[in-house]
Amino acid sequence: MGSTASSVNEPLQDSNVLKVVSPFSNPSVAFTLVSAKDLDGFQLHPLEQEALGDAVSLKRRHDFTLGRAAARKSLSQIGFPVVSPVLRGEQREPLWPVGIVGSISHSGPYGVAVAAWQQDVPALGVDIQKIEERYTDELIARFADPDEFDWVLSDPEKRTERAVRLFSAKESIFKALYVLRRVWFAFDVAHLTPKDCGTGFTASVRLPALSSGVVNLEVGVSSFDGYIITGAWLSKPLPW
Ligand SMILES: CC(C)(COP(=O)(O)OP(=O)(O)OC[C@H]1O[C@@H](n2cnc3c(N)ncnc32)[C@H](O)[C@@H]1OP(=O)(O)O)[C@@H](O)C(=O)NCCC(=O)NCCS
Repeated sequence: MGSTASSVNEPLQDSNVLKVVSPFSNPSVAFTLVSAKDLDGFQLHPLEQEALGDAVSLKRRHDFTLGRAAARKSLSQIGFPVVSPVLRGEQREPLWPVGIVGSISHSGPYGVAVAAWQQDVPALGVDIQKIEERYTDELIARFADPDEFDWVLSDPEKRTERAVRLFSAKESIFKALYVLRRVWFAFDVAHLTPKDCGTGFTASVRLPALSSGVVNLEVGVSSFDGYIITGAWLSKPLPW
């Protein structure tokens, strides 16, 4: 995808965007969270409109627009010089302008997006999840390995929040690595270790297409209005 110039509209103004602590401690990553009220005056790029299509529900249109509005703001924050569409790949993955890595998520009234120059950050994933009491043991066991499962259940007061953090972190990791390697993988290939300071995880992922390689990522976590937001990033390019 090239960096198509367009004058469809201006990036969202800073004052319109909610101030939330970024889950990314990496200063090269631009993080944006938007809600419905931030969409006033925002228009999808015509090519984004085309990628979304007409035969979609109002909710889907709203979610897609939230994500693209946040993406445009993040691109502007890193100094991307033109308004460029973020299109969709065959597996629904976002297609960023050449030289850019990024990721999108939406939940409830919120959309989040991150972007960085690929020379600074080789891969990025972001996810937002509502903190809700739906995490039964059976559900947790579907995405947690035995160590992770023990960590989630070891503090009954924090159980739900830990479950959401872990699930969301794995979704962020998937988004970051899928775009990098176009490999689909399940929850059990990623092992997450909570950091002592409680700010996130370190992750090691054994991608199925690679017999020996383990990918190490950082995952940061923040919270906002009953939601958990996670961000995963690779610090160094993969050697293969
Ligand atoms: C692809 C997936 C991560 C999307 O998450 P979701 O809960 O449906 O929705 P979110 O709001 O968080 O994210 C949606 C955004 O993710 C992005 N996305 C979708 N598919 C993607 C992919 N294959 N790679 C990267 N990003 C993708 C898109 O930008 C999408 O928004 P858009 O359609 O408006 O552009 C999820 O549906 C999925 O399939 N997960 C299973 C794979 C997995 O997590 N494995 C575990 C690895 S440890």
